Amino acid sequence: MPVVRGKNIEPLYSAETIAARNIELARQIGEGPTNDLLVIAVLKGSFIFAADLIRAMHAVGLAPEVEFITLSSYGTGTVSQGVRIIKDIDSDVHGRDVLLIDDILESGRTLLFAKELMYERGAKSVSIAVLLDKTVKRQTDLHADYVGFECPDYFVVGYGMDVAYAFRELPFVGIVTGDAE
Ligand code: IMP
Ligand code: MG
Repeated sequence: MPVVRGKNIEPLYSAETIAARNIELARQIGEGPTNDLLVIAVLKGSFIFAADLIRAMHAVGLAPEVEFITLSSYGTGTVSQGVRIIKDIDSDVHGRDVLLIDDILESGRTLLFAKELMYERGAKSVSIAVLLDKTVKRQTDLHADYVGFECPDYFVVGYGMDVAYAFRELPFVGIVTGDAE
């Protein structure tokens, strides 16, 4: 089992499995609305997935523009949670087909906020691509149009995803299972 920072990391989705799935997702995206396509990566966790997915999109003949938005959730526990913009996109989305890319869809609050924001700004369509979907954690009726994998209810790291800022660099998705001997 890989050991990183003295922790055992149990692989859940290998780099090869993710790469193959990205090509399938890109093909599916090509069958959806792609006029004047603007991809918006929701930072930070999506940065590696977005980088791979947009290159898979190129490989299947798509030519999106690419933007970045940094969103943050606030409030915890019983306090109702909100989402705020830390760093906004620069492009105008009016009349465009928008594809939001994120690492994980959990409660759905982050991506519901982003989807509504883009519609308010006049996007023609807003679709969502996520690497992982934790359906058991959903607290909104949001669904993703393109899903890499149905994710079991573990806290996962790697491939851009972190716990306390660590493990984003791993080329695979895994679960921290404990201290290495
Ligand atoms: P939600 O859908 O608004 O609840 O937020 C999902 C976001 O929470 C994701 O974009 C991640 O940034 C973060 N997140 C949720 N589950 C995990 C996990 O298992 N590992 C790392 N980040 C996670
Ligand atoms: Mg995120």
